[in-house]
Amino acid sequence: MTGHYSRQHLLAIAPLQRHEIESLLDLGNEYVDLNRQIQKKRDTLRGRTLINLFFEPSTRTQSSFELAGKRLGADVMNMSVAQSSVRKGETLIDTATTLNAMHPDIIVIRHQDSGAVALLADKVTCSVINAGDGAHEHPTQALLDALTIRRRMGRIEGLTVTIAGDVMHSRVARSNVHLLNKLGARVRLVAPRTLMPAGAGEWGAEIFNDMRHAITGADIVMMLRLQSERMTGSFLPSQREYFHFYGLDREKLALAKPGAFVMHPGPMNRGVEIDSAIADDIDRSLIHEQVEMGVAVRMAVLEALARQLPNDERKS
Ligand code: NCD
Repeated sequence: MTGHYSRQHLLAIAPLQRHEIESLLDLGNEYVDLNRQIQKKRDTLRGRTLINLFFEPSTRTQSSFELAGKRLGADVMNMSVAQSSVRKGETLIDTATTLNAMHPDIIVIRHQDSGAVALLADKVTCSVINAGDGAHEHPTQALLDALTIRRRMGRIEGLTVTIAGDVMHSRVARSNVHLLNKLGARVRLVAPRTLMPAGAGEWGAEIFNDMRHAITGADIVMMLRLQSERMTGSFLPSQREYFHFYGLDREKLALAKPGAFVMHPGPMNRGVEIDSAIADDIDRSLIHEQVEMGVAVRMAVLEALARQLPNDERKS
């Protein structure tokens, strides 16, 4: 049974209930099949306008929202901040209210500040999807990761998932901890002390500083990118030393369960947080599958939000 997501926006995983998450995963799963057909188009969003407003660079997230919107029949506009009035000093809220006056139905927003997307959602009349706000949340990434795991393992409940690397700067880690906990997985977080945020102990994951201990017995090892662009001070002695202690190589992966899978949200720093041989190992790496699931899950989210839009005949 799908269609239990009845909120106007998707801003974070933290406030969601398990059945809401599962309904989005079920719907996403149906779209995986559609996306493998030659004819990929639906008219679920026909007549609707989707705006992608990205204040930070993005490859996977922006392109998959664009494809998702187009496959559902929406008109999709990508706002590149480099060419917009934001560069001329317009405030975030002015940009959003200007776009809102053009009557979009859904705005997808990525912004470098935690909380910025929720702030905007308050100022506009359309639906808003958070495509990543600072180090806060990235809900569609956690959904696509969950769909990837569920399809491979058949379940999420009871699995041990180790999330490793730059937890401090990672909205992916936060959204995943919330989602995996709600679906009954055991979540472990591992980072050097300088990259483990102070409050992480309260997120509901087991905290490690030793990568080998954290990986031992894991079903899934999810690697995080070292987000050097967000580091103002000195967090690490060197990337070489980081790889030695925290980089995922065959030797460390051998500590996980036999056949354990490796994930990474991308973009990857090969040789920094993950050895190329593992990233490219089609028997162990789910990285390309994550990208495929990204389009399907975003179609599911767009459809779920479109059902809540006014004047929609499909609303039951
Ligand atoms: C992530 C992000 O932007 O938060 N990337 C993504 O959405 N695929 C992770 C990252 O930038 O490291």
